Order: sequence, then structure tokens, then C-alpha cells
Amino acid sequence: MGAVNLETAPARLQVRNVSLRYPTPTGGTFVALDKVSLEVPDQQFAVIVGPSGCGKSSLLYLTAGLNEPTEGEIVVSGQRVTEPGPDRGMVFQGYTLFPWLTVRQNIEFGLKRRGMPPAQRQEVVDHYLDEVRLRPFADNFPKQLSGGMMQRVAIARALANDPQILLMDEPFGALDSQTRHQMQRLLLRVWEHAKKTVVFVTHDIDEAILLGDRVYVMGARPGRIRQIIDVPLARPRPEDVELAPEFIALKRQIVDLLHDDLHRIDP
Ligand SMILES: Nc1ncnc2c1ncn2[C@@H]1O[C@H](COP(=O)(O)OP(=O)(O)O)[C@@H](O)[C@H]1O
Ligand SMILES: [Mg+2]
Repeated sequence: MGAVNLETAPARLQVRNVSLRYPTPTGGTFVALDKVSLEVPDQQFAVIVGPSGCGKSSLLYLTAGLNEPTEGEIVVSGQRVTEPGPDRGMVFQGYTLFPWLTVRQNIEFGLKRRGMPPAQRQEVVDHYLDEVRLRPFADNFPKQLSGGMMQRVAIARALANDPQILLMDEPFGALDSQTRHQMQRLLLRVWEHAKKTVVFVTHDIDEAILLGDRVYVMGARPGRIRQIIDVPLARPRPEDVELAPEFIALKRQIVDLLHDDLHRIDP
């Protein structure tokens, strides 16, 4: 077996002409997503950025198999998505740990369910505890952790299951700015080691550029992809990358694209 040829390998995620519509109470139709298409190659860090309400979470929920598109289809690793599956790991903004399980038990939950033997389980969990720097907290319960630590457990738990793709919906949205910054750096380091495909949703333009290989800029009413922007910043990205002229130019471009959406206040 040779190395995967990224030029010819099918995309890890294909979103094909996906629309999502909801009936409104007045008998009309609300278009949450309008003919959205995108292709994420294996091991890419894809970011979806857009204003509140443009359909980012809806798109991620469809990819997770938690909801079905009205039209179009979503394909992960060549398989059409019809339901949730262990090939798609999820990390969301709300803390979704099991409060009655310790950090270690939370991370090993999926492995145990799959019947992985205890010794192997411990090896996998220890690896990810080290990756997210939580080994000293392995026996703590979630309520004994800070918000940033809880999200680190959620990331470790998702990766321990060895998913084909990691779906993240504003995972750092509830954190203070300093913790958020640390979490972004930690995620980049873990991603570089784990070599996973990531689809990361945010409304924060700086976060999108800092993290992404490619940024999908969405617009609202109806929710759609407005532009696809490749981020030409080399990795690992320096601490002060936000001050680099290329970074600022990209930010300008995205701010201008989103200007109307960001300044519209709906009645
Ligand atoms: N179950 C639903 N019924 C009707 N409208 C919905 C439903 N879920 C989401 N929406 C609407 O779809 C739009 C997109 O929502 P969402 O995907 O959560 O946006 P985002 O994550 O970008 O803030 C919003 O206007 C929201 O009110
Ligand atoms: Mg959302």
C-alpha cells in the first residue's frame, strides 16, 4: 500500500447541493440552508465562519446525522450520511461530559462500549490525557474542572474513538479570551499529531483564520456559502500571526464580505 494521493483521493467530506427548509407558523417556508456544497479533503482543517443564524450549526448537525437535508446529500468517506455514527466525532459548545463519570471514564466511554480490552483502553486514554495535558486530573469529575479543561476532555474523548472526521461547533465560545487562545493553540497541536479531518464552526473571524487551512464564509437569509478562502499561512503558525500582514488582509476580506450580515438587525 502506498501513501494516499491527496490529488486523486475522494474528499473525506462531500456536501452536495444541500438545502434545509423549515415550515413557518404562518404557512410559509424558512430556508435555513440554500444549495450548500463543499468538499473537505482528508486531514484538512476546514472552518465555517458566518454570522449568527446563517445555518452553521444546522450544517454540522446534518453532517453528524442528527437531522436530514430537505434536498441534496452529505457523504463521509464515500458513505452517505443517514444517521449518527462513530466515524464522526463531535465537540459542541455546551459541556457534554457525563457528570457521573471521571475524566478517564468519560474519555474511555466509547472504547468500552466497543469492547476494547482494558489494557489497550488505558493506553489510548493515557495518550489523549497527555495530548490535552490532563493526566493529573484523570480521576476528577467534570464539576471539579474549569470550562477549558472540560472542553479538553471533550476533545480527548472525541479523538480517542478515532473518528474519520471531527465536527466542532463553536467549542470555545463560552470561554474567556485567554483560555480560548490557549485552547486554539492546544487544538492545533493535537490536530497536527492526530492527522484528522476537522470541520470547525465559529462566528469569530480571527479564530477562523488562525485555525483553518480553508475558510468557508457563509451568509444568512438564506444560509449559503458566499466565498471559499484558502489560508496561505505556513504551519505551525507563530504566536503573533494575528499581526502578520497576510492575516490582516484576509481578515479585511472576510469582514467586508460579512459587513451587511453583521450590521443587519432583524426586527
Ligand atoms: N427546528 C427549527 N425550526 C425552525 N427554524 C430553525 C430550526 N432550527 C434552526 N432554525 C433556524 O435556522 C437558522 C439557522 O440556525 P443555526 O444553524 O442554528 O445558525 P447558526 O449556528 O449559524 O447560528 C436560524 O435562523 C434558526 O432560527
Ligand atoms: Mg450555531
